[in-house]
Amino acid sequence: MSPFDLSGRCAIVTGANTGIGQAIAVGLAAAGADIIGFGRSSMTATADQVTATGRVFYSLQADLSQMEEVRTLIERATALRPRPDILVNNAGIIRRADTIDFTEEDWDAVMDTNLKSAFFLCQSFAKMAMAEQIPAKIINIASLLSFQGGIRVPSYTAAKSGLAGLTRLMANEWAARGINVNAIAPGYVETNNTTALRADTERNADILKRIPAGRWARADDMAGAAVFLASHASDYVHGTILPVDGGWLAR
Ligand SMILES: NC(=O)c1ccc[n+]([C@@H]2O[C@H](COP(=O)([O-])OP(=O)(O)OC[C@H]3O[C@@H](n4cnc5c(N)ncnc54)[C@H](OP(=O)(O)O)[C@@H]3O)[C@@H](O)[C@H]2O)c1
Repeated sequence: MSPFDLSGRCAIVTGANTGIGQAIAVGLAAAGADIIGFGRSSMTATADQVTATGRVFYSLQADLSQMEEVRTLIERATALRPRPDILVNNAGIIRRADTIDFTEEDWDAVMDTNLKSAFFLCQSFAKMAMAEQIPAKIINIASLLSFQGGIRVPSYTAAKSGLAGLTRLMANEWAARGINVNAIAPGYVETNNTTALRADTERNADILKRIPAGRWARADDMAGAAVFLASHASDYVHGTILPVDGGWLAR
């Protein structure tokens, strides 16, 4: 059997309705996993693509900026059969403004969704996996701003740098307990998240010039790394932040 085969596995993907989350959900399904999407918008487009691979898709509606909803989500997912053994923390937002003017509202909104809810989903997922004594994989969606400073996105940089740190910390605590915690750091990907950036002709040209691969990533460029980190092929990989960036960080 292929070491990348995910037959019999089940993955939670947050923010599975669009962009990178949708592409990862479909990629994991194509490798054999059933999918549970967590999100606040309709996930029918993803459901259609997942079921076309022959896998099952469940959706659980939740606003991941709200802790009272986050607290019960893993329990709700575990009640489904099959029980999830992969968690992909993908949902995220970005707020852009000059740092000198950055508001507390823009700080809290990004930190709550991108960092706090991701941390507590990891915690409740790991608790469930330890209680049920199943091996499990956690994949956090980090960013180039887990490595670099960025411009005009202070809460996003703080959240993504924090998520990389937490990925390493959780790996340290949970590696010996059968849970792999890793992250993917996407480069510049054509999704809703980057519409404003791509619309800025000057910034867009600067970005493109610096990408060794010579193009923006498509969301489905992230799927292979997710399959790897979800599969047995990565059983001895812990606490890594895997850039999928067209070579950006190598430059
Ligand atoms: N695009 C890039 O270049 C890039 C680069 C590095 C990292 N990333 C990261 O990749 C992840 C996915 O981003 P994307 O580029 O695919 O952007 P996207 O198309 O804007 O997707 C973001 C996803 O997060 C969901 N989400 C946001 N806030 C939520 C909330 N409060 N509750 C539930 N779901 C929520 C969105 O749901 P709605 O559709 O309902 O808003 C959507 O499904 C994010 O963590 C982002 O930071 C993106």
